[in-house]
Amino acid sequence: MAGGNKERTTKKEADMETETSGSSTLADKKDWKPGTVSSETMEGIDAVAEEVGAEYTSLPEHEGAIAFTHFDTPSSEDHRITVLLTKENMASMPLQSLVRIKSLEDSRSYIGSVTAGPFAEPDGLRADSPIVVTTTVKGKIFLPRYHGRAYVSILGEESNNQMLPPRFRPRPNSPVFPLTTEETMKALKIGGDIRIGNMVGVDNLVVSIPSKRKDVLPRHTGIFGTTGGGKSTTNSGLISKLHRAGVATIVIDVEGEYVESDQPTADPQMKEGLAKLNLPRDVVADLRVYHLEGRETNREIPGKLHPFCLKFSDISPYAVKEILELTEPQEQRFFKTYDTLKIILERLKIYPRTSDEKTEALEIDEFDTGYPHVTISQMIDLAGVFLAQLDEDKNSKKTKTSDSGEQRVYPTWTSEFRGHEDVLKSCAAQAQALGIPISWRALLVHLWKVARLKVFDNPKAPALNYEDLIHPGRVSVFDLSDTGSPRVNNLVISDILRGVQAAQEASYKEAVKRGVAPSPVVIIIEEAHEFLSDQRIKQMPILFQQVARIARRGRKRWLGLVFSTQMPQHLPDEVLGLLNNHVIHKISDSHVIDHLRKSLGGFDAGIWKMVPSLAPGQAVVSMAHMARPIMVSVDPTPCRLKLSN
Ligand SMILES: Nc1ncnc2c1ncn2[C@@H]1O[C@H](COP(=O)(O)OP(=O)(O)O)[C@@H](O)[C@H]1O
Ligand SMILES: [Mg+2]
Repeated sequence: MAGGNKERTTKKEADMETETSGSSTLADKKDWKPGTVSSETMEGIDAVAEEVGAEYTSLPEHEGAIAFTHFDTPSSEDHRITVLLTKENMASMPLQSLVRIKSLEDSRSYIGSVTAGPFAEPDGLRADSPIVVTTTVKGKIFLPRYHGRAYVSILGEESNNQMLPPRFRPRPNSPVFPLTTEETMKALKIGGDIRIGNMVGVDNLVVSIPSKRKDVLPRHTGIFGTTGGGKSTTNSGLISKLHRAGVATIVIDVEGEYVESDQPTADPQMKEGLAKLNLPRDVVADLRVYHLEGRETNREIPGKLHPFCLKFSDISPYAVKEILELTEPQEQRFFKTYDTLKIILERLKIYPRTSDEKTEALEIDEFDTGYPHVTISQMIDLAGVFLAQLDEDKNSKKTKTSDSGEQRVYPTWTSEFRGHEDVLKSCAAQAQALGIPISWRALLVHLWKVARLKVFDNPKAPALNYEDLIHPGRVSVFDLSDTGSPRVNNLVISDILRGVQAAQEASYKEAVKRGVAPSPVVIIIEEAHEFLSDQRIKQMPILFQQVARIARRGRKRWLGLVFSTQMPQHLPDEVLGLLNNHVIHKISDSHVIDHLRKSLGGFDAGIWKMVPSLAPGQAVVSMAHMARPIMVSVDPTPCRLKLSN
């Protein structure tokens, strides 16, 4: 068959040769050479061409088009258009790139994003037809010509330089044009002063966050992904960039990973990535590493360490009660003790002393903060007095012992109460506490447990100064790697959230008064599921309400929260609902993806399909200022990350 073919072609060529007669064959003319076509023949061809409408030219409106829209099918979806393109144009329309579709028939123009493809399809044959399959496996000699098929999600209709929600679809055979980098940046709204990374598949397209805009970071962020997906790297890079942008950044570092953010990275992969992208190597110059007094820190380099303790009086008694997981009877006795303490503090002229303090005392919201000057050791002392009185009553009924002082179970050891045992006793007697010594003993066990943690009112270390934490550009890392207790972590987190929020509230008011821009604050909480899991907030509604309140006020007062977790499925919908920005690294578990898809909204199906196959360091990024979620290659971090064990 091949031979016959060759003969036919050669014969045709021979026929075209004007100098020889039509009957010549290849056999006759071994030294055949092609000649020129006579001018009459050429004119004849031209005349025919003229008759049928002259030489083919594309429509001027199609000039520069790289693809055309296709017809819809029964499986077509709203806002999603199939476009077809030549094989040569496939490289000009990568995944995620933006295009303009000009629907000439109805004079509308749309902007869309390539959300699937372009896929190669053989011309005139089905890709899975036996002939295509066979020729493919035999090698590419007989490979048919092919074209591309891509799916474009419509972002909006262009009208007077504005993007409106699309009401129609582009008509079939509408030309599709690529957008320039500038047009793409503008359409996607990915500008800002803090780089996150490059858009995957589109060169030179930087995705950034505007660090100063009040409608982005203060609307709170979730950074999700399986271990190894790139969360810590993203956080570390974000910390260095927030620092550079002058944002005060507080990091709740449960694993002690960020404690050496003032040192350059030693990871060869990071260094290579930074060099390739020509990124600055700025580490955190203003770093403070806080750790609880008596607990180790993961930082091995000397300096920058700030031991601290918590003040019991800073923490809402309702939050304490939840964190201690008190039972109902224990809780009643806990509040009886707490409230009686207030009376004792006033009697002993510890607090309130001045009229200002008296006003302050009346205004305290105990769902938010604790009562000034109350300490855990005072609580233990007074609960001990309550218990001793019950024991005395019991004993006096039985044996009428004379020396009641001998029967005190817990000695007074709070220095400010020494010598005032009578005041404690009389106040306790007046308080008409509930009976049942066993419940008092159980409460005391809980209080002792907390006291033994030595996180409260430790004389060896100062309490936190929240104003220090909101200093512009400062990075304060709270190394909780050695607490060994989620309860302690929760106490610390709860205290920091409340204290920073109050400090920021004051700083914001001051800025407004002085007519200057308020200084922004971001709090990053690593392993956020440990703090805010579904189960935990059911047990701790007060703690959650506190977080929700801070999140709400933060929007107004420029305080952004970042929750980073490998288990976003454990975050309740109420917490997910607080987040308007998302950085989603690889997640392989389809149940987790389903859960997020239902809870987050705003992501199209194509995006979720990408999540399981993201490479380390890649993420789907959707921030409040952006037009749509984008797959991003997150920048490597210039700062050192400590390995967590
Ligand atoms: N943005 C990135 N650029 C280059 N490599 C990255 C990036 N993010 C992550 N990686 C690679 O993936 C590994 C795991 O990342 P990591 O940030 O520790 O993930 P996670 O905190 O989610 O467990 C890193 O050690 C690094 O090798
Ligand atoms: Mg990590």
